[in-house]
Amino acid sequence: MSSAFNIVVLISGTGSNLASIIDKQQQYNYKVSLVVSNQKSAKGLDFAKQNNIPIFTFNWDKSDRLLLDVQNIIRQHNCQLIVLAGFMKILPSPFIDEFKQKIINIHPSLLPKYPGLNTHQRVIDNKDQTHGASVHYVNAQLDAGEIISQTSINVDLNSNAESLGKQLLFREHSLLPYTIHLIGQNRVEWRDDKLYFDHKILTTPIIIYD
Ligand code: GRF
Repeated sequence: MSSAFNIVVLISGTGSNLASIIDKQQQYNYKVSLVVSNQKSAKGLDFAKQNNIPIFTFNWDKSDRLLLDVQNIIRQHNCQLIVLAGFMKILPSPFIDEFKQKIINIHPSLLPKYPGLNTHQRVIDNKDQTHGASVHYVNAQLDAGEIISQTSINVDLNSNAESLGKQLLFREHSLLPYTIHLIGQNRVEWRDDKLYFDHKILTTPIIIYD
């Protein structure tokens, strides 16, 4: 088996996506070598500790210098991919530029629909029949980089924002680890600023069903 693909995961809170990423490390042949959080008390850090994964926390309010520390520590760990999994801050351009085409984010909507916050409520308010989550590359615009993969769910008439969020989160837990796997296996890759999936230019997101 080839050596594991080395990733860092950035979180701000509960970290259920981080937990699913950690759980599927062996199955998908990647390795979480570092977890970074802008919240010292983020519950998700417990999953890292339980699995002996190094953690680094920093205080966003003093972001300039500390983000340089984050950049340094990511470099030291030779991370091949930076995964934003419930990381609730917008990374500044110098950070994004340094790790161009190496940062992905999971967003709880079928992008380009509903960038930003409160996606579940917006789906309900608009009486959408389907909802979903997207994994996309991060660029300087909010939730606007190239979309890699999506999963969708039907919106039940009785859903509220909380139940819908819960239902979707369950699907996110498959979508994100599998997408990391595709990137680690070079099945998803950048060539000359174009995104390829299995050697063909990716024109529509890869749909992941379960
Ligand atoms: C997820 O819904 C993710 O799509 C969004 O933030 C939430 C994080 O949840 N970006 P968790 O911290 O992984 O449980």
